[in-house]
Amino acid sequence: MHFNQFLPLVVALLTSTAKACGGHTDLSSSPSVLNTEPRAVKHTCKPKIVIQNVRIFDGQTILPPSTVVIDGHVIGTDPTHATECIDADGAVLLPGFIESHAHPGSIAHLESLTRHGITTAFQPACFAPQHCAAFQGHRGLVDMYHASVPATAPGSLHGGIVFNATGNADLLVQGQNDTGRWLREQLSWQPDFIKLIAQTPGHSQETLNSLVEGAHSHGKKVICHAADSISHTQASISKVDQIHHTPLDSPIGETIARLVFSQGQVVVPTLSVMKAFAELGLPGQIKYAAAAESVRTYYEAGVPILAGTDANDEIAAKVPFGSSFHAELELLVEAGMNTLDVLRAATALPAEHWGFEDRGVIAAGKRADLVLVGGNPLEDISATRDILRIWVAGEEIDR
Ligand SMILES: *[C@@H]1O[C@H](CO)[C@@H](O)[C@H](O)[C@H]1NC(C)=O
Ligand SMILES: *[C@@H]1O[C@H](CO)[C@@H](O)[C@H](O)[C@H]1NC(C)=O
Ligand SMILES: [Zn+2]
Repeated sequence: MHFNQFLPLVVALLTSTAKACGGHTDLSSSPSVLNTEPRAVKHTCKPKIVIQNVRIFDGQTILPPSTVVIDGHVIGTDPTHATECIDADGAVLLPGFIESHAHPGSIAHLESLTRHGITTAFQPACFAPQHCAAFQGHRGLVDMYHASVPATAPGSLHGGIVFNATGNADLLVQGQNDTGRWLREQLSWQPDFIKLIAQTPGHSQETLNSLVEGAHSHGKKVICHAADSISHTQASISKVDQIHHTPLDSPIGETIARLVFSQGQVVVPTLSVMKAFAELGLPGQIKYAAAAESVRTYYEAGVPILAGTDANDEIAAKVPFGSSFHAELELLVEAGMNTLDVLRAATALPAEHWGFEDRGVIAAGKRADLVLVGGNPLEDISATRDILRIWVAGEEIDR
């Protein structure tokens, strides 16, 4: 097929968008576009979407109506030569949501996350690296990052889970003298980050410290499962980057909150799964109120909180993919956070603390991961559920 066959289409697009965008298209540049080499013309044909009359959440506030340009897979600045123009009618544009804790097990789960506005997600346990890798890099779907196998101790609850699921005792960390071997094997799987489990019975403090130190020396971020108050103390002492879950036994104290804050650690409370656990009615000290109070204590100490749900359909405490993220934001507000900090927990803060400079805010050059919503989530957080349109790296999702 010859390139010239496409020229009439190019002309038609430029002409129609000049009208649709209210004459923003710079007509004087059109002839030169048509006279350039095919490669250059192709460049101007990449999708450029102009969203007008849109109120942008800039990470602090919701701005008066303005224009946003989606230029290919990033946010652009130049509204000319648009291929599509959208009048947002004053709707609010948010950065795509970042889900810091979800366990998708199928493409359908990824689709469900994406349909709910989640454009980046972190899978915090990978029993087989090829399985998790299969969920990465899908165009038009949530951008996935995955952990190592969780570092578990023999004789611990999660050690039993890892061994029963894999039949491979080498995946467990035998003790402090075994952390070097375990890390070497896990790093050869090329996980995006390392996952530890703190629990009783479980790893000694020395083993946790050694795993964190070893992972950091290889430039890997470390997150730690900690679902009770003793584990929160262990995780904070070990200097992991992120503490996931909140205690169901008793709330954390201010001393731990201050330590976590002073060490620059962040917390991913996963209130959704804590609530689901509490609702199972298991015997023992399981109180959702302890989890919610811990969030409040961390928040008041200034600890950054990230939104994550533990979405899964594997354990008894099931949490749905995608819809639970919006419920999590509501639970964080209920626990005492203000709506601005909750929106930041879903966007800019996870980008910062997971180490991504290319997303989390709406700004020129960032990935065009965007969610257009009907209401004002700063006034009522449940407005995040009123999704009108979603773009993942510039590609609009068919909902
Ligand atoms: C692992 O399997 C053993 C033997 O079937 C069982 O007793 C144990 O409860 C299992 N552990 C977990 C955590 O599922
Ligand atoms: C590590 O120490 C434990 C005892 O704590 C011992 O049983 C094991 O053999 C040691 N492993 C290695 C690789 O030295
Ligand atoms: Zn989890």
